[in-house]
Amino acid sequence: MLLPVEVNAAAREAASMLRERLGEAPPCAVVLGSGWDVLAAEYDSTEAVDFHEVPGLCEAGVEGHRGAIKTVATGAGPLLVQDGRLHCYEGYTSLETCFPVWIYASWGVRALVMFSAAGGLNPVYLPGDLMIVRDHIMLWGNNPLFHLPDEEGRSRFTASHGLYPDRWRDALRGCLPAEARCEEGVYASVPGPSYETGAEAQMLRIAGADAVGMSTAPEALAAGYLGLQTCAVCCISNVLVPYSGGPQSHEVVLTTVGRSAGRLPGLLEKVAATANMLL
Ligand code: HPA
Repeated sequence: MLLPVEVNAAAREAASMLRERLGEAPPCAVVLGSGWDVLAAEYDSTEAVDFHEVPGLCEAGVEGHRGAIKTVATGAGPLLVQDGRLHCYEGYTSLETCFPVWIYASWGVRALVMFSAAGGLNPVYLPGDLMIVRDHIMLWGNNPLFHLPDEEGRSRFTASHGLYPDRWRDALRGCLPAEARCEEGVYASVPGPSYETGAEAQMLRIAGADAVGMSTAPEALAAGYLGLQTCAVCCISNVLVPYSGGPQSHEVVLTTVGRSAGRLPGLLEKVAATANMLL
């Protein structure tokens, strides 16, 4: 188990291994969750380093999450790509699921752009829509900042407002085709793996959430704590309100997100250009 007291040293060791294999860190890392891996397919990449090869990093075990780190060469410069992510429902602690963010910070990455799948709670949303995260509601019982020593000038009592800054959200919207159906909204992060009951979906909607998923918020908290700029976009893979039924399966999630992401050619190059402009 990755202990909070060891996380900084472990991140330095993992970062030095990645530096040896992949070179200097690109300024921006993207995390490609369920169904989003198609975004990286159009670019040349360096060798990919599997999670299990990186010291201290757990293995990815969910279908559609390869569990690899690579750099891709876009027309706007290199981008770090994390293909797949770790979830607490796989048995990992919140800190372990966020360990890649510690590694990137130690390696020299300065921004984290996250892509994920989510269930729609806002009744206006349709499957395949995109939602840029304006704010989140963190509902994991287990915060990645639990038990961290106050080291390296950081405080675990970190402010959580403004984790998804306006300028990143506006720039990200500018990266998407004008015809893409995309709203900004509040993302509720639940531990999963079961999907919401009708009553839970209604409760989250009443609480102000527009979409619900099983990631993103812990990584954003870690990124904020570590001084990385953050933004996130999710694809609505299924709608929970007004239907109050979860997706029929994880396959439905992968197919719907993959289809929507397939309509966003060149997105990673635009993200790299955005990072160059904003960092
Ligand atoms: N709920 C939680 N997480 C999800 C969902 C959902 O309906 N769809 C995709 N990820």
